[in-house]
Amino acid sequence: MIGTARHLVERFVGFLLARPPSPSEQRWVAEHLDPAAAALFFAQRAEDQRHAIEVARLVADDPALVEAALLHDVGKADAALGPVARALATVLDALGVPLRGRWARYRAHGTLGAGRLAEVGASPLAVAFAAGHPGPCPDHVDPVAWARLAAADDGEIVGPETAAR
Ligand SMILES: [Fe+2]
Ligand SMILES: [Fe+2]
Repeated sequence: MIGTARHLVERFVGFLLARPPSPSEQRWVAEHLDPAAAALFFAQRAEDQRHAIEVARLVADDPALVEAALLHDVGKADAALGPVARALATVLDALGVPLRGRWARYRAHGTLGAGRLAEVGASPLAVAFAAGHPGPCPDHVDPVAWARLAAADDGEIVGPETAAR
């Protein structure tokens, strides 16, 4: 629980301090995404773009993973919640309080994002990781790719060899 609280605080502070992507970061993103997917990426709040780029940098050796990392949280744009409301939504959800409206959409951002990604023809891996993170690897997905993406979403680098173990 303390670990969870610390994670929440870190995420909150990181969110407040997040810089929008620089022009060179924007170019890097655009190189890895089709135009329609890139439009979803850039429709995110600057803080979510920053998080996605940080995750993608940790898997930068594999373009398929970069795509999935860049796009995994695009569903959050549907909820349009600010940092305080997000933190509250996470706490209330952990306490089992039923959420409605934008709050419920925030909690369901994975599924919502996956739907949008499928519409724009994102890769099956990108759709699956958006839908299933943070959670176990679905049967139809490469477990090494999943383990690397999940670790990167937690801020850790896991190389292909380690992930395969
Ligand atoms: Fe997420
Ligand atoms: Fe994430």
